[in-house]
Amino acid sequence: MILVTGGAGYIGVVLVQQLLERGAAVRVLDKLYFGEEPLRQVRKRIDLVQGDIREFDPQVLDGVEAVVHLAGLSNDPTAEYNPKANDEMNHLGTANLARACKERGIRRFTYASSASIYDRGLYAEDLLQDEDSPVEPRAAYAVSKYLGERSLLALVDEHFCPVILRQGTVYGFSPRMRYDLVVNTFLKDALTKGELTVFCGGEMWRPLVDITDVARAHIACLEAPEEKVRGQIFNLSYRNYRILELAHYVEYALRDRVQVTINVDYAERQARSYRISSYEIERVLGFKHQVSVADSAADMLQRIEEYKLTDFGNPRYYNIQWMTLLDEMEKNLKRIGRVF
Ligand SMILES: NC(=O)c1ccc[n+]([C@@H]2O[C@H](COP(=O)([O-])OP(=O)(O)OC[C@H]3O[C@@H](n4cnc5c(N)ncnc54)[C@H](O)[C@@H]3O)[C@@H](O)[C@H]2O)c1
Repeated sequence: MILVTGGAGYIGVVLVQQLLERGAAVRVLDKLYFGEEPLRQVRKRIDLVQGDIREFDPQVLDGVEAVVHLAGLSNDPTAEYNPKANDEMNHLGTANLARACKERGIRRFTYASSASIYDRGLYAEDLLQDEDSPVEPRAAYAVSKYLGERSLLALVDEHFCPVILRQGTVYGFSPRMRYDLVVNTFLKDALTKGELTVFCGGEMWRPLVDITDVARAHIACLEAPEEKVRGQIFNLSYRNYRILELAHYVEYALRDRVQVTINVDYAERQARSYRISSYEIERVLGFKHQVSVADSAADMLQRIEEYKLTDFGNPRYYNIQWMTLLDEMEKNLKRIGRVF
């Protein structure tokens, strides 16, 4: 049995599908912030446990051989909205879960870390960074992901084999869609407004990776011999793109569908920017990233229509909007009790 924390999230749903296709038994532990509807197609084939990684029932680990750990706050705005919860979930929750796994003899543990740990800002020296590059994360989200990594590495020994995947910004279709990730946002803006706007001349660098490649990478790290992956950090990206270049790829992918105007704002302002090398996972495991931005965007266009995920104004597609709404509702519900 593979336990996927955060398995009802954007990446989680795609990863669960891939695990099932490979014949794995899957349990999902998720707080279900975004509901369980995205798991509908696989619901009967998985064991779904609603719970929080900060205080879960230890029985959730019964029969588990390996863990893919995705749960937590998953972007800068939500981390900054509630830095305490962010640290509790992304850092302490990761440490807590990993310790419990190790005590139970669960050896393999993959962790969805983030390449935003490498961010040095647009005006710093433009370096191609790899897994050995010194990092000094500053933003709450990146710091919490980095501390989560440190707590895993502190537990590495011959009984425990965590693997850290520093994922670039993800693109592509998931039944639990997010339109707050740059490529997906561009696709949505192109369809709804016919125009894309990029800031700082679109000069920022970002490593980007397709959602199916991320899922495959976690599975490759679950299946690899322990000695190849124990305590390893692997960067994940298909390529590094400048934001302006990305806008052009999305424009190209939609060329038969909409006429897209790209607006470029050249004013200087602080912005995230980083480039990474993702060669290490290919060197060690022979893993190759496969899906380009243009191919993924074309696929996304088709599938969001098929799945009727084109109500772009719905706050559930934007993590910060959804979480602030839930927070507000929680306060209101305490006052008003049942809604009807
Ligand atoms: N999407 C990206 O571009 C990207 C890039 C780098 C790293 N990551 C990391 O990958 C992981 C998955 O990201 P995603 O895009 O699927 O995010 P998501 O927000 O769509 O999914 C996160 C899932 O975790 C669940 N969750 C959150 N806090 C929880 C808690 N305390 N206990 C149990 N469940 C909880 C949520 O209900 C949700 O289903 C995250 O750890 C994120 O930091 C994502």
